[in-house]
Amino acid sequence: MIVGIDIGGSTTDAVLLNNGEVIVVTIETGDPVAAAAGALGKLLSTAGGALADIRVIAASGGGARCLQDHLFGVPVVKVPEIVAIGVGGSTLAEKKDALVVSLGTGTALVSVRGEQIEHVGGTGVGGGTLLGLARHLLGVSRLDTLEQMAMTGDLTRVDLTVGDIAGGPVGIVPASATASNFGKVRSDPTLADKAAALVNMVAEVTFTVSLMAARARQHHDIVLTGKLSRVKPLRERIEDMQPRRGENIIIPPYADYATAIGAARAASGHGDGRI
Ligand SMILES: Nc1ncnc2c1ncn2[C@@H]1O[C@H](COP(=O)(O)OP(=O)(O)OP(=O)(O)O)[C@@H](O)[C@H]1O
Ligand SMILES: [Mg+2]
Repeated sequence: MIVGIDIGGSTTDAVLLNNGEVIVVTIETGDPVAAAAGALGKLLSTAGGALADIRVIAASGGGARCLQDHLFGVPVVKVPEIVAIGVGGSTLAEKKDALVVSLGTGTALVSVRGEQIEHVGGTGVGGGTLLGLARHLLGVSRLDTLEQMAMTGDLTRVDLTVGDIAGGPVGIVPASATASNFGKVRSDPTLADKAAALVNMVAEVTFTVSLMAARARQHHDIVLTGKLSRVKPLRERIEDMQPRRGENIIIPPYADYATAIGAARAASGHGDGRI
């Protein structure tokens, strides 16, 4: 058995890979060592295994540096987060050439071309932005509340479109394209409208940055991973966006556990940890 742990800015995700079987658990990240220990305990109690059955713990994410080289006697291998994201996203999507985007607390962009895995860049706009602005703008702390509000809101009362400004399309840009997120200041939106606009802004920013990075690095396939991909209205908004040059957007199974799976696969050399 091999365990992959991703100690991220919001959550600690852990996966146990055992000859084709996958078990996943998530706990909120507090103290990184406690989070890793808790995730390990939860995995073992779910799998019904023993510590001695675990060959190695592959640790990644911002909190991994806090772990020692053993956890409860099991060797810990640190996998750089960029490698874990690249291996996780590309193997889950079964692509050897792709831009892998981690939609986590923030956003990280990773180019994968065969064995070559490279950090392209990233932004601070991500799931943390969504939750933080929901709290500050709307007084909403729960993600499920935000999702429900966003699904009933009306974007046209918050976002300024190209059509609003120009009266129609401008060159290749359709009238419905956003000219300015939150730019329609002369209307009185409801909280639900603002929730929709907030989800839309994070979706548009992350999607646009991903598309630009994919084009700069000549990738046709864009693999989206991270827990932000679970947020239904955001995922639907991204799936709705049709890239003009036909880039392929993939949200693979286990996208929300891609970094933890990538850490485990990288540490196992894609051997018995493969799912
Ligand atoms: N069940 C959930 N628990 C926590 N966050 C969730 C959940 N579902 C969706 N999210 C969204 O996903 C974001 C966290 O994503 P993820 O867990 O992939 O990031 P992370 O690995 O903790 O952070 P990073 O990789 O940026 O350090 C949250 O900010 C939130 O917007
Ligand atoms: Mg992460």
